[in-house]
Amino acid sequence: MDISIKILRYQPEKDEKPHWQLFKFAIEDEATILDVLNEIHWVHDGTLSYRRSCRSSICGSCAMKVNGRNVLACETPIHRFGTRLKIEPLSGFSIIKDLVVDLEPFFAKLKRIKPYLIVDKPLPDKEFVQSTAELETIGESTLCILCAACSAACPSSWPNQEYLGPAALLKAYRFIFDSRDDGSDERLEIINDKNGVWRCHTIFNCVEACPKKIKITEYLSRLKVKAVENSL
Ligand code: SF4
Ligand code: FES
Repeated sequence: MDISIKILRYQPEKDEKPHWQLFKFAIEDEATILDVLNEIHWVHDGTLSYRRSCRSSICGSCAMKVNGRNVLACETPIHRFGTRLKIEPLSGFSIIKDLVVDLEPFFAKLKRIKPYLIVDKPLPDKEFVQSTAELETIGESTLCILCAACSAACPSSWPNQEYLGPAALLKAYRFIFDSRDDGSDERLEIINDKNGVWRCHTIFNCVEACPKKIKITEYLSRLKVKAVENSL
């Protein structure tokens, strides 16, 4: 099919500010957004920059905004949007080049909530045993691929770059509610802060943006209850 694509370009060595560039060409009906970007990069303009790696919705590299919605380029067919596409980088992050944004602040927030198992109790002889119910409590939250689509879609994050944001808070949930973990108190102190979980106003943009369909706001609500219980 014939498609028309506008891409927000920004090359810091020569552009004062981002600007739109139009491309028109024919591509297979089943093509994905990533196929479109590859076609541009390999055939029309080799200077276009974008992130991608696994091409399987696993690495989280290729999140970007297409016609106003955050998607993973590698899993999104173009027919979802029709023949006219507007592709731009994720909102709320500074642009390094074209569709590549600076995710350092995103990962710095993740580090703040200590995204690893903290164990104070004696280690078992073999592995920790979890019941099915204990695993189900955190199961969906472990599916996060750290694509940043949720944090980029969050209106509470846009005016306040210090807010931890949905992805870091979801990771906090994942460990605070893990039956094997002993670090809940220190993590709850971090999220029970003016830039923590209380900045979430349950707007649901994060849920809509998440390519893994994780019920982020539900888990953040459980975090709020836990934070209150812990401070009583
Ligand atoms: S919660 Fe979903 S949208 Fe947010 S970083 Fe993880 S996978 Fe991406
Ligand atoms: S390229 Fe890895 S998630 Fe899209």
